[in-house]
Amino acid sequence: MCSRGRRREPANAGAGARVLRPLFYGRFLFSFTEPGFRFRRLFWRKTTRDFRGQLWLVTGASGGLGAHIASEAVKAGATVIAAARDAGKLSALRERLAPDVRERLEPWICDFALQGEVAALLQRLHAAGRQVDVLINNVGVLLDAHELTAEGRERSFAINLLSHFQLTEGLLADGLLASGAVIINMSSGGGYNFPLMLNLLNVTEAVRYNGTAAYACHKRAQMVLNANWRRLHAARGISFYVMHPGWVDTEGVQRSLPRFRRALKSILRDAASGADTALWLAAWRPAQTEVTGIWFDRALRPAHVFAYTREGDRAAQALVDQLQGELNDGQSKSLAAPSRH
Ligand SMILES: NC(=O)c1ccc[n+]([C@@H]2O[C@H](COP(=O)([O-])OP(=O)(O)OC[C@H]3O[C@@H](n4cnc5c(N)ncnc54)[C@H](OP(=O)(O)O)[C@@H]3O)[C@@H](O)[C@H]2O)c1
Repeated sequence: MCSRGRRREPANAGAGARVLRPLFYGRFLFSFTEPGFRFRRLFWRKTTRDFRGQLWLVTGASGGLGAHIASEAVKAGATVIAAARDAGKLSALRERLAPDVRERLEPWICDFALQGEVAALLQRLHAAGRQVDVLINNVGVLLDAHELTAEGRERSFAINLLSHFQLTEGLLADGLLASGAVIINMSSGGGYNFPLMLNLLNVTEAVRYNGTAAYACHKRAQMVLNANWRRLHAARGISFYVMHPGWVDTEGVQRSLPRFRRALKSILRDAASGADTALWLAAWRPAQTEVTGIWFDRALRPAHVFAYTREGDRAAQALVDQLQGELNDGQSKSLAAPSRH
């Protein structure tokens, strides 16, 4: 349970996670890697994708899973706003698409570590009068080194969680989602290792920071947020899904988990296998009767595999309050800041 709740906090969550880590890797080695994907694929019906007429917004689209999802959506007929911070990588992605479809990939520059830039992206959508059919909240990083953003937040928190919350809430509040829109939140199996602990989400003091724990906590928080959005917005006909891609050989993994990558390189998934569930969810929009759970390889799986990660009833509201508080705080800081003009 999170730090603000009344329920007893699993103070030993870090220790628990350490003890259970070998168990975690052993348990999921086959499932999360390419062999697991290939095995499950044997039982799937052949499907096609048709995203014609849809507007997609994919965050962190310049590389890895985001780039793959954006390209495949364009190939299946969607117009895709590919949002990332590196203009060069985005234009290279566009160039890799066939000339007759590449105009439907729109590179939008946004640094998701900065809430001011996420707000600007929302304003730009609003000004253009565009409504999003599919939002892929994909951007995410695991940072070993502690770093604060120019807005004073721990960097991975701002990217992994706050930007997703801000973007989703902004689209909902400003009427920027098309009717029947789908929102897919890219979490991680790493979230299985950690309970939601609010005091570990935005660790601004370097001595308290542990990049792996922060990442796992953000990924757990995404699952809690997704369940909350499902609870609140099901009646509006908006579908919220949270998923994880398994273990995929991307630049992010190469950069953040070099030893893990070296050990498992031959069996890690490629981007197509990791992204498959996101594209399948967007195409099929399966019914989900329970609010909790996480999609993986085209099936809804339990949100918890270890008892110590379960959160209490008030966890979601406490999480939303904290994230909303962060955004309000940022707004008041920027209103209070002297004008640059
Ligand atoms: N790969 C896996 O095994 C795995 C497993 C579980 C979950 N996931 C999740 O899947 C998602 C994608 O992971 P990935 O492995 O594809 O990561 P990746 O290879 O690092 O790609 C992420 C993309 O996001 C961009 N990005 C990073 N920080 C950004 C920022 N502040 N603003 C805008 N764009 C930014 C990166 O561009 P730059 O080059 O500019 O940094 C990069 O193109 C993440 O949420 C991750 O947690 C991945």
